[in-house]
Amino acid sequence: MKRIGILTSGGDAPGMNAAVRSAVRTGISMGMEVYGIKRGYEGLLDGEIERMQWQSVGDILQRGGTILRTARSERFRTEEGRKHGVNILETFGIEGLVVIGGDGSFRGGSELAALGITVMGVPGTIDNDLAYTDYTIGFDTAVNTVLSMISNLRDTASAHERTTIVEVMGRECGDIALYSGLAGGADVILLPEMEFDINSVCRRVLRGQQSGKLHSIIVKAEGVEISSHQLAETVQERTGREARAVVPGYIQRGGTPTGRDRMLASMMAARAIKLLYDDEESKAIGTCNDEIIAYDLEEALSMKKHFRADLYEIAETLA
Ligand code: F6P
Repeated sequence: MKRIGILTSGGDAPGMNAAVRSAVRTGISMGMEVYGIKRGYEGLLDGEIERMQWQSVGDILQRGGTILRTARSERFRTEEGRKHGVNILETFGIEGLVVIGGDGSFRGGSELAALGITVMGVPGTIDNDLAYTDYTIGFDTAVNTVLSMISNLRDTASAHERTTIVEVMGRECGDIALYSGLAGGADVILLPEMEFDINSVCRRVLRGQQSGKLHSIIVKAEGVEISSHQLAETVQERTGREARAVVPGYIQRGGTPTGRDRMLASMMAARAIKLLYDDEESKAIGTCNDEIIAYDLEEALSMKKHFRADLYEIAETLA
């Protein structure tokens, strides 16, 4: 394959730029013509496509966000929109695409694959909600950002003897909450994968108070039904100790990617390009036990995410 396109789509994630850099430079070094598609599928439909050179991706490895920018495209959800997308790709002579994004972006990619475009999915999302890969690009950075916030919150929560509820992103996946809760020493971790029981939350906070703890930290995933402010009110009422809710939101999506995310991004995107070069069928690139892996795109999308009950158990023991 000679001419390929790259796009980033859905919520941005730290490390997307590292993946773009790796895809562009690996492609050029293999003699390919590489085109950058701006604003995800939305920009594809508007023909916002530019040839990329080695230097187009200079000085971006360490930057969060995505130089290609990103979008969630409603137009691309329609069959008409997707056919228009294929026409545009054909006009540019682009035969293969690297799609860097999450679940929704991969589904868009699989629709394009059904219309004859080869698509290599590179998992870029802080949510870590793609079942076929151990980790997605951006997850490690998001967890580290939350950890740094938890450290700050501990200081002020101790000073005021308060309970703090930190609500983290992740949609229906609790991984950001699970990993940051475990590594941040949270007293309670609330996940969409587990049943929510307000009585047990309050019991734990009270137990901490009675043992002399100056503060309690509750890490709650956004996918857990109750709102953080509602939870804070109830915990305050039932424990008699002040509670505050903190929702850091998009702060978790920005920032310089960790070394781990840069490595994953560089390795996965390089694999995606090699697969396109070898004229392989559409694939989803991932990582399993520290190896870079590639699954058939459809097969990857049909897998069900495995909940890390082992990690939850450790967090429960250590809390
Ligand atoms: O998928 C990444 C993510 O940050 C989720 O964790 C969050 O629920 C969602 O995107 C927010 O989406 P938006 O950027 O459209 O507000």
